Amino acid sequence: MKRRSFLRLLGGAAAVSVAPTIIKAQTLGRGGKAPSGKLNVGFIGAGGISHGHMQYVLGEPDLQLRWVCDVNKHVAANTVAMAEKRYADSRGEPTFKGIKHTGEFREVMADPDVDIIFNCTPDHWHALVLTAAADAGKDIYSEKPLSRTPAEGVAMVEAVRRSGIVCQIGSQQRSSGEFQRAIALARNGALGRIKRVVVGLPPGGGIPDFVSPEPQPIPPELDYDRWIGPSPYLPYLKERLDWNWRWRYEFAGGQLTDWINHHYDIAQLALGVNEEVPVAIKNISAEFHHHPIYNTAIRYSLEAHFAGGQLIEVSSGNPMGVRIEGEDGWVYVDRGVIEHSSPALRAMPLPTQGFSMGGGAVAHRKNFFDCVATRGTPRSPIAQAHTTAMAAHLANAAMRAGLSEIRWDPAAQRVVNAPDAERFLVCNYRSPWHLPA
Ligand SMILES: NC(=O)c1ccc[n+]([C@@H]2O[C@H](COP(=O)([O-])OP(=O)(O)OC[C@H]3O[C@@H](n4cnc5c(N)ncnc54)[C@H](O)[C@@H]3O)[C@@H](O)[C@H]2O)c1
Repeated sequence: MKRRSFLRLLGGAAAVSVAPTIIKAQTLGRGGKAPSGKLNVGFIGAGGISHGHMQYVLGEPDLQLRWVCDVNKHVAANTVAMAEKRYADSRGEPTFKGIKHTGEFREVMADPDVDIIFNCTPDHWHALVLTAAADAGKDIYSEKPLSRTPAEGVAMVEAVRRSGIVCQIGSQQRSSGEFQRAIALARNGALGRIKRVVVGLPPGGGIPDFVSPEPQPIPPELDYDRWIGPSPYLPYLKERLDWNWRWRYEFAGGQLTDWINHHYDIAQLALGVNEEVPVAIKNISAEFHHHPIYNTAIRYSLEAHFAGGQLIEVSSGNPMGVRIEGEDGWVYVDRGVIEHSSPALRAMPLPTQGFSMGGGAVAHRKNFFDCVATRGTPRSPIAQAHTTAMAAHLANAAMRAGLSEIRWDPAAQRVVNAPDAERFLVCNYRSPWHLPA
């Protein structure tokens, strides 16, 4: 594969590692700010994943953190205090002031000085935050998985298309050398005709064996009603929040959904079906949490079948990562690991030759800011994140409906074989929230 085609495969100019000076989006056609100005950044959600993104923003001279939004007042205030200290230290000044905090994300969207949003909320908030950012004309780095339902994904893709914002989804493995090499080996024919693609995702979720379902008092610093947002209201339990919201379908989709925009995404790219939703998911099996407060699958297997006959096997029982087997060899890739079936394959030069292992989140953020400057398409475009997330939505719907197979009509956007399973593809928004049309 020629280098240019390979770059296009990975998202166009996005794959170039040179960082142009960041120029405000407005300067490039949406307003009229000075080219010398810094880009102002707002974070929505300041929990686990936000920390790495924030350290990056705080360390970039062209960026200025302006807002921290979190529904937990302590989290928001502590994050601002940390950031202000870091700015003060780096300037050799006793204090730095100028970062605001709020629990209302719409306040951040309404600030005309904000250029960039990092969406680090739990999955059930992704669609509302992303569509609000698009409507406000802010470029956005939005965490994976894209969505909770097909309708959310469609609304998000449409909002980005309509607004023309730059949107990177947090599938950072696309920016790591080892994954790029595995994809290129598959796509340039080095493995011969592809026979099998096997994906391993994690089981379970490291959750406590038992949590009493008795409601607990809501901590005063937490706006729990806002945390729940568009989801059905469930009584407060601290074990629902933080990491563990992933194990309730009201908020997320278990490990399958959590990881679909990582290893399965890489498998789709390797097969060249990254723009497609599977037309059928077969041989589905699932074992669910039998737990008072969690309800997602803890072990699962499935086969995603595409219109052109391509097939991806997924199981929580497989070794983590992606194994691509061709008639002439195989490659296995996981974070920080790449194995080839032969020394000759390992030595094979590719457009990625000279690649370095890793890159991950740092390279992915850099790719985003490069695209903010050039108005290019980031390496993880939203339309591809949508088709990828759809596989998890369909598989989860089938598992919850007790089906071993679900067939999807992409044109009609309907389940073909079991319309009843569509009730698991819908999440009615709790008033006053609604998904933008
Ligand atoms: N790319 C990756 O590898 C990766 C890794 C971890 C997490 N993630 C994704 O990042 C997202 C966040 O995950 P996490 O582990 O950081 O979760 P978390 O629960 O640790 O943090 C989420 C934060 O968002 C806040 N929040 C909730 N609703 C909010 C709202 N309406 N407005 C403002 N703040 C709100 C919470 O109070 C919490 O502080 C998830 O979608 C997750 O899948 C991605």
